Amino acid sequence: MRETVVRVTGPSPYDVVIGHDLADRLPQLLGVGVQRVAVVFADALAELVRPVLDSLAAAYDVMVLPIPDGERAKKAAVAVSCWEALGEAGFTRSDAVVTFGGGATTDVGGFVAATWLRGVRVVHVPTTLLGMVDAAVGGKTGVNTRSGKNLVGAFHEPVGVLCDLSTLRSLPRAELLAGLGEVIKCGFIADPAILTLVEGNAPSGLDADSAVLRELVERAVRVKAGVVSADLKEIGGRPDDPGREVLNYGHTMAHAIERTENYRIRHGEAVSIGCVYVAELANRAGTLGSDVVERHRHAFARVGLPTSYSKASFDDLHRAMRVDKKARGSQLRFIVLSDLAVPTVLAGPSVVDLRDAYAAIGGPE
Ligand code: GLY
Repeated sequence: MRETVVRVTGPSPYDVVIGHDLADRLPQLLGVGVQRVAVVFADALAELVRPVLDSLAAAYDVMVLPIPDGERAKKAAVAVSCWEALGEAGFTRSDAVVTFGGGATTDVGGFVAATWLRGVRVVHVPTTLLGMVDAAVGGKTGVNTRSGKNLVGAFHEPVGVLCDLSTLRSLPRAELLAGLGEVIKCGFIADPAILTLVEGNAPSGLDADSAVLRELVERAVRVKAGVVSADLKEIGGRPDDPGREVLNYGHTMAHAIERTENYRIRHGEAVSIGCVYVAELANRAGTLGSDVVERHRHAFARVGLPTSYSKASFDDLHRAMRVDKKARGSQLRFIVLSDLAVPTVLAGPSVVDLRDAYAAIGGPE
């Protein structure tokens, strides 16, 4: 099958198309009435973006907006330079944006699309595994500020997402494996078949052309699509159905580690440690059995992701967790499991449990 389509429902439904060599699908995703397309891409991907530019040039006037690679792009100044270019070109409401790159590119390009003329159409073409299974789906866009990451942004759903697995051929191996951190997280919160696939297949065979990787992407996108279709704006829900917040499984500790490491650790690696931590925490809080905790260690380690951490004191990590935006009021709040694929909220765990869980993943006494 050349492509798989996952539908995201909700206020503005759209398709996520997954497969190989899909650049010619862009006009269908952009829809009718578009005349001009601005392609926001990471400047390091000038060669990789060529098939996308060629496909678009056959149907539209194309303008290119190269931006810095990676997190360096997630700045207000980069959004300003894109707005200025769109202004000079007289970009109108019937024109559209295509983003091409990793999560930082789709975030800032999506933010430009969200804000130009109060919102123009955007299609995301993520080129990293992390981007495909997380950043590009669900409509979160934004930039970082000196006060923190993702504090400025908007919900702006794309009109389509193109997960062209061919673009993963040039992704460094460590980035591909780190992307599996978010995929395995989806296995624990919603789709245990992901865990069976990871456990039952040699990680060396997981590359851009493998059928197993494709199935993992499809399953993780289905998990994310299901969650954001039900709770786009993270309004949340009940303890037995936490809504979009469920996607933050493992992220409170992951963000604290990323801050401690000055963002020199890959997000998926921090998520891997964070998921093992929160499983240990759930075990201490009495919601999760030790067998599922061990399965966390096994699944993440299977693809070479870290499952322990000891580079910070508990007090420093605790402080960092408390400033994470997921802490509500003065209480720390975690998504935990009460079984595989049964997420729930743990609000205000005891400091003893928090500390013990850190010791269980290798934290210094
Ligand atoms: N990355 C978490 C979310 O999209 O809500």
